[in-house]
Amino acid sequence: MSRIVLGVAGGIAAYKACLLLRRFTEADHEVQVVPTATALSFVGETTWAALSGRPAHTSVLADAHEVSHVRLGREADLVVVAPATADLLARAASGRADDLLTNVLLTATCPVVMAPAMHTEMWLHPATQANVATLRSRGVVVLRPAEGRLTGTDSGPGRLPEPEDIEASALAALADAGAVRRMAAQDLAGKKVVISAGGTREALDPVRFVGNSSSGRMGVALARAAVQRGADVTLVAANLAIEPPAAVEVVPVVSTADLAAEMNRLAPSADVVVMAAAPADYTPVRPSATKLKKSGDAGLTVEFTQTTDVLAGLAAARRPGQVVVGFAAETAADEAELVELGTAKLARKGCQLLVLNNVSGGAVFGAADNQVLLLTASGIVGRAAGAKTSVAHAILDAACTVDERNPE
Ligand code: CTP
Repeated sequence: MSRIVLGVAGGIAAYKACLLLRRFTEADHEVQVVPTATALSFVGETTWAALSGRPAHTSVLADAHEVSHVRLGREADLVVVAPATADLLARAASGRADDLLTNVLLTATCPVVMAPAMHTEMWLHPATQANVATLRSRGVVVLRPAEGRLTGTDSGPGRLPEPEDIEASALAALADAGAVRRMAAQDLAGKKVVISAGGTREALDPVRFVGNSSSGRMGVALARAAVQRGADVTLVAANLAIEPPAAVEVVPVVSTADLAAEMNRLAPSADVVVMAAAPADYTPVRPSATKLKKSGDAGLTVEFTQTTDVLAGLAAARRPGQVVVGFAAETAADEAELVELGTAKLARKGCQLLVLNNVSGGAVFGAADNQVLLLTASGIVGRAAGAKTSVAHAILDAACTVDERNPE
């Protein structure tokens, strides 16, 4: 359980902060809502108090005996501002202290995550961009606003990111100081990242398939982490068991052949290509066009043929400067055997970085946590363990520095 201050600035997207608040309280976080005076014109104090279970104050004069303008910021584990309007960003960037929220921002020593929402012109205005740059240079995580329909009929960048995406960034910031630095720095801004995730399905007949138990969680965590660091992300999604982040472009696929076609189409323009999916290695030679019927006591024999190795193809077609990342889940008795298997696979696939995990315990698929070794041609370059989000950031770090280790 963490203590979160949820700052709410005065924009129509304030109503979406109610959903964010619900997500935080349902995850057992203690949330103190600090709306600005204008925010209360959009969503009233009663709503914040009822949803958070505590009064929401806007002025430094409320509860003056508790010195809450200093206490709230000092005691918080995380401050999230959603929506952060152009005005709030300007006041925060210039260090104003004209209401309780800006006082909290000046006294907070914990990570601060801001989710902007405003009209496109206001977001793109050099004044706002300069304020965002100032805040980021001070270590504040200013999320990229989503693109799409704004209030009224206009559309463009400026929408509040979806509450689940804000929550994911907030939790990443809470979990990992390194993630805060990377998200604030936007070190992948301008990079194109293409990631495959999930498990493919090979049809036996119109209703049956051969599949595997990959949930897509690791690939989705990578997509989220890359978006949080400013990348443009496309997720080639094979039958995911979880919702992908709203901020990524999703290309759905079913079989290994579909996945190969989409990855080959998207990879040439990507800076980083990640094969986190579990494509089937075999596919039925002759899938039945009609539903297979039981016939007496006879068994069923299906002939399979090998699918293409997507990763090896992508690695062979790699252009200079591009990084191709593969995954390998191996059952190994110990780390030495794991590294031996991984080194052979890295060479066979021809990728620059291999994310290796030992699945002999069987605990990886569908789990929120993961433990990996990061392997390049020069050997182990990193290790990561813990939440898949933190592991995802470590994988992206290794992918971003792989060229320096392995010159062309
Ligand atoms: N992969 C791929 N195309 C396939 C199979 C796997 O691109 N047809 C990719 C996976 O996405 C992963 C990497 O290759 O990034 C390693 O997958 P793995 O199943 O371990 O590789 P295989 O070549 O199938 O090796 P093994 O013989 O150990 O099963």
